[in-house]
Amino acid sequence: MKKLVIVLLLGISCFYAGSQIAFEVDLQKSGAEIQPDMYGVFFEDINFGADGGLYAELIKNRSFEFDQPFVGWTPFGDVSVKSENPCFERNPHYVQMNESGLRRGTGLENEGFRRIGFKQNAGYNFSFYGRSNDGGEKKFRIELVNSQEEIIGKTDILVQGKEWKKYSVSLKAGVTDAKGKLRLVLETPGIVDIDHISLFPAETWKNRENGLRKDLLEALYDLNPGVFRFPGGCIIEGNTLETRYQWKNSVGPVENRPLNENRWNYTFKHRFFPDYYQTYGLGFYEFFLLSEDIGAEPLPVVSCGLACQYESTECVAVGDLQPYIDDALDLIEFANGPVDSKWGKIRAEMGHPEPFNLKYIAIGNEQWGESYVERLVPFMEALRKKYPEIKIIGTAGPAPDGEHFNYLWPKMKELKVDLVDEHYYRSPEWFLENAERYDSYDRNGPKVFAGEYAAHHRSRNNNAVSAISEAAFMTGLERNADIVHLATYAPLFAHVDAWQWKPDMIWFDNLSVVRTPNYYVQQMYAQNAGTHVLPIKQEGKNIAGKDGLYASSVMDDATSELIVKVVNSSTEAKKINISIKGLQQSVHNQRIAVIELHTLVPEAVNTIDNPNNVVPVHSFILAEEAGFTLEAQANAFYVCKLKIQKEK
Ligand code: AHR
Repeated sequence: MKKLVIVLLLGISCFYAGSQIAFEVDLQKSGAEIQPDMYGVFFEDINFGADGGLYAELIKNRSFEFDQPFVGWTPFGDVSVKSENPCFERNPHYVQMNESGLRRGTGLENEGFRRIGFKQNAGYNFSFYGRSNDGGEKKFRIELVNSQEEIIGKTDILVQGKEWKKYSVSLKAGVTDAKGKLRLVLETPGIVDIDHISLFPAETWKNRENGLRKDLLEALYDLNPGVFRFPGGCIIEGNTLETRYQWKNSVGPVENRPLNENRWNYTFKHRFFPDYYQTYGLGFYEFFLLSEDIGAEPLPVVSCGLACQYESTECVAVGDLQPYIDDALDLIEFANGPVDSKWGKIRAEMGHPEPFNLKYIAIGNEQWGESYVERLVPFMEALRKKYPEIKIIGTAGPAPDGEHFNYLWPKMKELKVDLVDEHYYRSPEWFLENAERYDSYDRNGPKVFAGEYAAHHRSRNNNAVSAISEAAFMTGLERNADIVHLATYAPLFAHVDAWQWKPDMIWFDNLSVVRTPNYYVQQMYAQNAGTHVLPIKQEGKNIAGKDGLYASSVMDDATSELIVKVVNSSTEAKKINISIKGLQQSVHNQRIAVIELHTLVPEAVNTIDNPNNVVPVHSFILAEEAGFTLEAQANAFYVCKLKIQKEK
């Protein structure tokens, strides 16, 4: 028995490699305030993030406006596309069905976005606009069809009258199937026109009409994001100026929001998606509402008059920028203006008379060169004049270093933008090596917005090793919260059958959601952001990579908690003594809540079939007199929380 104990003890002591590691947190040196909106999300309609994703519409090409009007549809019988006397002037196409009576029906099937997901016993709201050519009553059969070609839900609609009218009906799915489709059949002989054919799950986020997918929104809500950057990304620039995201097209009645191409349809030849368009069903009103719902500050990005500089040299002459500048000014009015202002009225009519309290606006996305700077100038003049309280975000270009970056940062300082948007898609090694990036930044210029970042492992998977490297890097964001004011991982969403870009924070199919290890890192930061930075040191130095260890610490004045974040990116477990300087009294035997994100397999991922492979685990340890000991596993991220008694 004695022998066994000795062997076990030897085993344990060998397990924790290296000599004793000591960190010290100093409670007396309360540092910079952490912005309440520091950790957020960046949403772009890429990877079927909006249409086919967050936007809960299940019908693809519902208005027949795609360049090939039957994309997504399988017509049968006599069905043709028309545009005379349309129902919606900005989406003028509709279909005409002519049932001769000799067949058993004329109709259409819709394949959805990589098919339609149905859930057993769930309700679905179907609607379309229709008119009967002779005014007489015409019967439609509406069917939900599963992947086995079985009808799992059905109902009828009667269309009557020569004028366009909306017809709505609810139906239920009898079984669950991730790969279903919709069928509608005109059964009565005669001619009928129909348009804007729509099918939504009855259950959407807050059960709103024109709603958002509840499970995806819940994943966002659970992140506790402080800021919500939208709608891009490259889509705000467009491959051509004509196809840039124009927010004014995305508000007002949903049926009349004109379709735009999605630039991610043909950006990558190896990921070609000719059926990717933007309906703007999820438009700026919905984006503002969503931000409000999840408690995040909205941060819209608008075009600065340059088409995507990777794809084109098209630009608006500086002297002709006024309509673009007006778009930015009007956007602020749409968000914050009184209900009797032109754009505030539209917001109120859409259902939100109260202002959205917009505080930020970004001009341009990944722009570069003189052409950006000279366009930013008139935007800034106009915005500062009319809305001096709004914070303006300029860009440092598409990379975190190099020619464009080095040119733009001094220019942004000169122009006195409030924040500079930096983007870094780099290897996990880069993230580990750059945890000290902001330690030496100039404190007198604009603040930093890490607007798009993600560690790109060679597999481009959302694996644990990439997540841990992001966690390590983020200790540097937190330590430098005086200069780093906002940070948003990118991209946010990806459909498993329709992605163009990876890694992505949240994956989904037509029925389920996968929160990646990278998601959990973001969540662990955003849920434990704290209010003030506290120094944490090893031998008097920042902990930023020595022996693969990284750490930061904050105080949360609202909960009186000391929060220590530790990353062990090495391949060995480490025993770390964390002492707390400046305690008013002993914390001996107090419980320390520990959240651990760890896996034995660095390349481990979460998948649709195994979504909980890498998830945070909650436990607690007991404090010692003036600190605690953390047994940090290899390749792991920890958040440790201890209640601190405030001075009496
Ligand atoms: O996040 C994907 C893309 O990466 C964004 O659209 C763009 O800003 C960046 O190049």
